[in-house]
Amino acid sequence: MVALLLLFLTIPAVFGKDVQCPEGFHHFKRTPTAKNNHTKDWCLGIFPADRLDERDRARSVCANNNATLSLPENQKESDFIAAFSTKHNISETHAADGQTSPRCAARVYKAMKENRDFNSSAVKGECNLNNRYFLFDNANTDPAFVFAKFSYPPPNQFGSFWSANEPKVYHFAACLAYSPQFNPTNATNPGYANTSYCVGRPIGKVDSEHDFASGQQEIKSVICGRHPL
Ligand SMILES: *[C@@H]1O[C@H](CO)[C@@H](O)[C@H](O)[C@H]1NC(C)=O
Ligand SMILES: *[C@@H]1O[C@H](CO)[C@@H](O)[C@H](O)[C@H]1NC(C)=O
Ligand SMILES: *[C@@H]1O[C@H](CO)[C@@H](O)[C@H](O)[C@H]1NC(C)=O
Ligand SMILES: *[C@@H]1O[C@H](CO)[C@@H](O)[C@H](O)[C@H]1NC(C)=O
Ligand SMILES: *[C@@H]1O[C@H](CO)[C@@H](O)[C@H](O)[C@H]1NC(C)=O
Ligand SMILES: *[C@@H]1O[C@H](CO)[C@@H](O)[C@H](O)[C@H]1NC(C)=O
Repeated sequence: MVALLLLFLTIPAVFGKDVQCPEGFHHFKRTPTAKNNHTKDWCLGIFPADRLDERDRARSVCANNNATLSLPENQKESDFIAAFSTKHNISETHAADGQTSPRCAARVYKAMKENRDFNSSAVKGECNLNNRYFLFDNANTDPAFVFAKFSYPPPNQFGSFWSANEPKVYHFAACLAYSPQFNPTNATNPGYANTSYCVGRPIGKVDSEHDFASGQQEIKSVICGRHPL
């Protein structure tokens, strides 16, 4: 009887289907919660390409891999991204899921127009960082881990342009980027969340109105995620 019971208990372990990710992706177990749409298993992959600070290019690279933009949800996932970056000599930050919602962007423009600070960690309501300041392409990651890695709350990069007879135009970096740091011995904050201008750095010669993003860090890789096979 005891032997039979043991047999039953071990069957699921032996025949339990192995969770597999497609080539280029790495499997992670996640703790399912309402914040990650009850995700138990997730595949993360880092894909290099040029000019991924252009959000539509980053988004397209993920789509081509049958995935979406994604984010690390915990230190283990962040360390995987760091190890990949080291192995592939990527020192730049990675494009990551998250873009300021149009409603919150409108509030940032208003604050810029009025010369006021907009601190997403301090504002109440919808546009608080921990609420819906960022919208995500994908719902399978709880962004709290990455949010805690901002050293300066977003929005944190701005530009504006005006000249005679033209409207004054405001810009801020509305897309999320994530830069893992690999320090296995000691790091209390191994990783930085950052923002980038979603249009990307200008290509070639541009007029002064359109060169607001020219000084931003290049982004040459993107964090994509998908369900296992
Ligand atoms: C994406 O999915 C399609 C349809 O299942 C498949 O044919 C294709 O090989 C996949 N592409 C990649 C890069 O995984
Ligand atoms: C790594 O990247 C740096 C800076 O982009 C470059 O100078 C160096 O040659 C690269 N090393 C390898 C091994 O590719
Ligand atoms: C933003 O607000 C948070 C919460 O009130 C505060 O701790 C932080 O110092 C503020 N940061 C800036 C740059 O104003
Ligand atoms: C959450 O997961 C369920 C079940 O897989 C799916 O039907 C739903 O569309 C997901 N929600 C979002 C916001 O993606
Ligand atoms: C590890 O980091 C903590 C917090 O920054 C610091 O207090 C401590 O001195 C560090 N330890 C080492 C060995 O660097
Ligand atoms: C954040 O982005 C700015 C502009 O691209 C860059 O200068 C800065 O080094 C980045 N910070 C981090 C921590 O990656």
